[in-house]
Order: sequence, then structure tokens, then C-alpha cells
Amino acid sequence: MIASTVKIIRAKKELRTQIKEWHMKGLRVGMVPTMGALHHGHLSLIKEIQKHVDKVVVSIFVNPKQFGPNEDFDKYPRQETADIKKLAEVHTDLLYAPSAKEIYPEGFLTNVKVTKITEGLCASKRPGHFDGVTTVVTKLLLQCLPDVALFGEKDFQQYTVLKQLADDLDIPTEVMCGKLIRDEDGLATSSRNVYLTPDARQIALEIPKTLKRIVDEIEGNIRPIEESLNRGIEHLLKSGVKEIQYLEIRKSQNLEPVTDAITEPSRVLIAAVVGGVRLIDNMPIQKPQ
Ligand code: PAF
Repeated sequence: MIASTVKIIRAKKELRTQIKEWHMKGLRVGMVPTMGALHHGHLSLIKEIQKHVDKVVVSIFVNPKQFGPNEDFDKYPRQETADIKKLAEVHTDLLYAPSAKEIYPEGFLTNVKVTKITEGLCASKRPGHFDGVTTVVTKLLLQCLPDVALFGEKDFQQYTVLKQLADDLDIPTEVMCGKLIRDEDGLATSSRNVYLTPDARQIALEIPKTLKRIVDEIEGNIRPIEESLNRGIEHLLKSGVKEIQYLEIRKSQNLEPVTDAITEPSRVLIAAVVGGVRLIDNMPIQKPQ
């Protein structure tokens, strides 16, 4: 495949000028916000958004505000040169790679908070995480003003929160959900998968297998929800998963908990720690026949 050249912008003023120029020509602009360390999940989001827009902006910014004090902010993989090469291969038009000062200049005092749907699931072990995400994404969307922004289905709670944010704050961007991509062995693609040893990866593969079993049991009316989830937890712990932070079923539309019966499209969602690496995954569940 012939790679194209990716224009790189690091200042919000320059970004605005470029987007304005495209909009004045009647072009639709799409944005894929990322924290870099791009993998084929990100590249698939770029290819997906290209179907809806004329120009694609990818942002890379490792956002300090969404990491807790004991999390992997310092160790989070940063590989801009390799990322630019990958962006060129999928014909990304523009990389927006602002510095921390460009996003959070001295004297920055604002915190953007979405309530209710930011409680539980990933928020239970990562207090303040979603405030960090909503604050930075508000800034990125307002700096770029894309027509469409795409967020991955793997972080399903994040996608739901960001859709709510754009609706509530009248940000003129359509927030869309990009398909969850799995590696060939079935593990949900993630920048953190590089931390897994081969043994830990084998254990991690039990996560998607267990989710699939739960989906089949519930859709097939084989087991009640609680029993299916408990068996899933038991199996994962026995397989070597060190910690299960949550394994829950929520309604896809509003993330309300589902404990009794599936009455509308729902999802089984998990966060678990394997070999010191926190992994998340989820799968849709349809109403049983
Ligand atoms: O999903 C991510 O990579 C980040 O949470 C996001 C949306 C780019 C905000 O920093």
C-alpha cells in the first residue's frame, strides 16, 4: 500500500484554521481521538470514519487527567514516529498532537463532569477517570469542531458517556461508536496488550471466551443471569485471572443495571487484571427468543 503524507499540527489555532478551510470547501471532517500507541483497532476506526467524512483528523494526546495516581501514565507507551507511519498507511489527513501545555495551559481550572452513567463499572476502581476523559474530549471536540467523532466499542462506557456529553453540551459533533476489534486469538485489541507475557495472554483469552459463554447462556435461556455471571467469575479466577473488578450486564442505551431479565439490547461488560495488566471487554446480548 502506498502511504500518504500526514500533516502534523500541534497548536489549536492552526488546527482551527485548517478545519475552517475544509469546512468552507464543503468538506465533512471526522475526528478519532486517541492516546497514541496505535494498533489495528485504531486503524480500523480510521477506516470506518473515512466512510462518513472527506477528511480525517486523528489526535494523539496522553491525557494526564484520566490516570489515577497509581496508574500507568508514566509508563503508557509513547511512539509518535511509529504512529505517524501507521497513520500514513491508512491515509489519515491530519495528526493533531498537542503538548500538555496546549491542552492545559497554566491557570486551567475547569472540570467537565457527566453524572450517573459515570458511576460504577470502570469508575468504581478509577475515581475521577471519566472527569479526565470528558474534560479532555470536550476540549478536543471544541478545538477541532469535527462533524463526526468516533470512539471504540471496547470502551463502551466511555462511548456512552461521550455521546451524552456531546448531546448535553450541544457540541455540534455526531458521536459514533466504532466496532470492537479483536486480535486473531480473540483478545480485544488494546494498547496495553503489549504488557502481557505469553502466559498471561493465554489466561487473558479466557475473558472473551467467558463473555461469549455468558451471552450464549442468557440468549439461549440456559441459565438465569446471576448464575451465569457467578459461574463466569468462578471460571476466570480458576483460570488465573487475578482480580475481576466487575462482570455485569447493563442496558446498552443508558447503562442501567440488568439483573433479572433482558428486556432490551444489553451488554455484558468486564474489567479484570491479568498478569498485572488491567483489561476490559464487552459483548452485546439480545433479548432471548
Ligand atoms: O480512549 C482513549 O484513548 C481516551 O480515553 C480518549 C478518548 C482519547 C481521551 O483521552
